[in-house]
Amino acid sequence: MLAHAQSLGINRAGVIGAGLMGRRIAGVLASGGLDVVLYDANSSVLAEAVDTANLMASAHQDAGVVRAGSDLRDAVANSDYVTEAVVEDLTVKQALFEELSTYSTTAILASNTSVLPITQVAARATNPERVVGTHWWNPPDLIPIVEVIRGEQTSTETMDRTFSLLENFGKLTVRVEKDVAGFVGNRLQHALWREAIALVADGVCDAETVDLVCRNTIGLRLAQMGPIETADYVGLDLTRAIHDAVLPSLNTDDAANPILTALIDAGSLGAKSGQGFLTWPAGRREQAATDLAAHVKSQLAH
Ligand SMILES: NC(=O)c1ccc[n+]([C@@H]2O[C@H](COP(=O)([O-])OP(=O)(O)OC[C@H]3O[C@@H](n4cnc5c(N)ncnc54)[C@H](O)[C@@H]3O)[C@@H](O)[C@H]2O)c1
Repeated sequence: MLAHAQSLGINRAGVIGAGLMGRRIAGVLASGGLDVVLYDANSSVLAEAVDTANLMASAHQDAGVVRAGSDLRDAVANSDYVTEAVVEDLTVKQALFEELSTYSTTAILASNTSVLPITQVAARATNPERVVGTHWWNPPDLIPIVEVIRGEQTSTETMDRTFSLLENFGKLTVRVEKDVAGFVGNRLQHALWREAIALVADGVCDAETVDLVCRNTIGLRLAQMGPIETADYVGLDLTRAIHDAVLPSLNTDDAANPILTALIDAGSLGAKSGQGFLTWPAGRREQAATDLAAHVKSQLAH
């Protein structure tokens, strides 16, 4: 893997943001053989994050080493491939990419934004042709897909080198050639969440019922057969008849549902505050993470 990365001119990587995603992305890059400098504006998270990444890499032969960066310049200056996983805030990311692009004039600069258009993230960068979206999914070492997104100014060379690097590191890498907010996966996911939340807000059923139906119907099928194949499978004539009947009453709000704002205003932020749509007693969040990882692993084993 390292030889392949080197053939792309990529010998060292920098990862900016050492939270949930950044530390594990660093672990994947080091597992592929790259030495990685991991940097976070909050230095107190770095030691644990570096340990996590190195532990992940230690399971692989010829792994690279992850070390803590002393500052942003340190993480970028000698890196050929830099990826950020900082807070999802356009202003913060724009300032970061402006700075990154001054510390290295040649490195590929990748953003792990979940939904922000890459063209906007790159707006203040010099040489925006070097900026590319790489949307990893959580946990990034387990979920196979990375969406590689072309911003309006991303060069084909940047797309191709990024794609090739991540594919060779074992990721199921897909090209997103048009820079739309949310790319592919999160557009699909949040179209579903909008309707799920609307069903609760409109009193059609309670929150538990939404999840129960979802998990035991489309949830069971989707990992095997995606929506396009399913439409073909059941028949496009049936699909059109269903759409004619149901689309007029689906939620089309272009802003978050007011029920979300009401919950947030009441301090109900979900698992992290103990209450959201559902109740989260101590330990439930950790158990959910464990159960989810075990489920993903068992699905991938097939
Ligand atoms: N959590 C997920 O499931 C998930 C999945 C896919 C993509 N993402 C995206 O990945 C990014 C990071 O998400 P996360 O869940 O790891 O967040 P997180 O809050 O766990 O970690 C973010 C880290 O970035 C650091 N940081 C903030 N601003 C910084 C700056 N200017 N310079 C350096 N470090 C800075 C913070 O100190 C924090 O440690 C976001 O853009 C998010 O949308 C998250």
